Parts: sequence; C-alpha cells; structure tokens
Amino acid sequence: MTTGRFITVEGIDGAGKSSHLEFLASAIRARGAEAVVTREPGGTPLGEKLRELVLHEPMDGTTEALVMFAARREHLVRVIEPALARGAWVLSDRFSDATFAYQCGGRGLDRGVFRTLESLVHPHRRPDATFLFDLDPAAALERQRAQSRTPDKFEREAAGFFGRVREAYLDRAREDPARVRVIDASGGIEDVRARLAEAFARAFP
Ligand code: TMP
Repeated sequence: MTTGRFITVEGIDGAGKSSHLEFLASAIRARGAEAVVTREPGGTPLGEKLRELVLHEPMDGTTEALVMFAARREHLVRVIEPALARGAWVLSDRFSDATFAYQCGGRGLDRGVFRTLESLVHPHRRPDATFLFDLDPAAALERQRAQSRTPDKFEREAAGFFGRVREAYLDRAREDPARVRVIDASGGIEDVRARLAEAFARAFP
C-alpha cells in the first residue's frame, strides 16, 4: 500500500485551477496510487447542501466562514481521513487556505479567530502540498466572462475583493513556502500545465 498524501489546489475565481485537476489525478495514478478527487465547499452529501446555501444565499461574513468550516469538518471526517488511511492520495479543489483568503482577506475577518477554529476542525491535518494558481484579478475576470454559466455570489464580487483574496493567498504562501507552491497561472493552458507538472515533480520527487 502507498502512503496517502493530501494535496490541495487554490486560487481566485477564474484562475483556472479546476481545469488541471484531472491532470494532477493522472499524475497521481501514474505513481500507482489511488486518487480521490474532491472539493470544498462540498465533498459530502451534507457539504454539497451547504455549498448550495453558501454560494447562493446572502449571509453575514462570519456565518459564511462558519459554514465553510462546518462543511470542512464533515469532509475531513467522512472523506479525507478515511481515504488517507487506506493509502489513497486526496486531491481537494480548495481547503482552509480558501477561508483565510476569501473570508479573512476578502471580507476582512480576523485571522487569529480562524486559526483557532482551524485547530479545532482539523487539528492534525495540513495539506502535504498546495498548488496556488496565481493570476491578476483583471485577467481572471476575463476568463470568467468567457464562461456562459450564471455567476455565484463570490463570482459577482468586484475586482477589489479578488485583489484582497489574491494577496491573502500570497501571504499564506509566504508563511509556509515549503507547502504552498505558487504557480503562475497567466498565459495558455498548456504553459500553465507545464509549470504545474514541474511544481508537482518538485513537491513529490
Ligand atoms: P469553486 O468555485 O472553486 O468551487 O469555489 C466555490 C467558491 O467558494 C469560490 O468562490 C471560493 C469560495 N470559498 C470561500 O469563500 N471560502 C472557503 O473556505 C471555500 C472552500 C470556498
């Protein structure tokens, strides 16, 4: 049995991270490991219900952060920990860094409080590697506009919000550079994929 690894991908809306999940899953399978691809908010039946609410219902910022952490606890207990225990590699489209970026950076909530909450919700678990897709908010907005679906509550935020989210993500990368690997997400999808492949190989030699 292989040793499980926990990998997360992060970035502002429109940075393009989700289009690389299948590529990462294939890279994991190529090593002979099981890949569990999941997401936050979501990843469990209850988490997906909470996702619907938090992405579409107006709510107070602190309420929003608490819902994210509630969904995260379910995700951790029901999906992430069991998969890691059987030796699978878990690939999650977002995790706690997103709360620090969106709710603390974007909405201005206090980080210290959520550090405490983080230690309650996942005391012994941190991602082994996080790939942060970094892109200028104006370019991300252009990419989002190219998609035809109706934007959710977050996607309708102004560029200033995404500027703060981006900076908060980069702060997380500066705090923990061994874990958070910043990928330049500008340019074509193939260029970004090549940068990601290089970062993945460096993270898991
Ligand atoms: P997605 O569009 O990448 O699936 O993410 C859903 C939205 O939820 C995205 O706009 C970011 C937001 N989000 C937060 O605000 N805080 C969180 O903790 C998480 C996990 C997501």
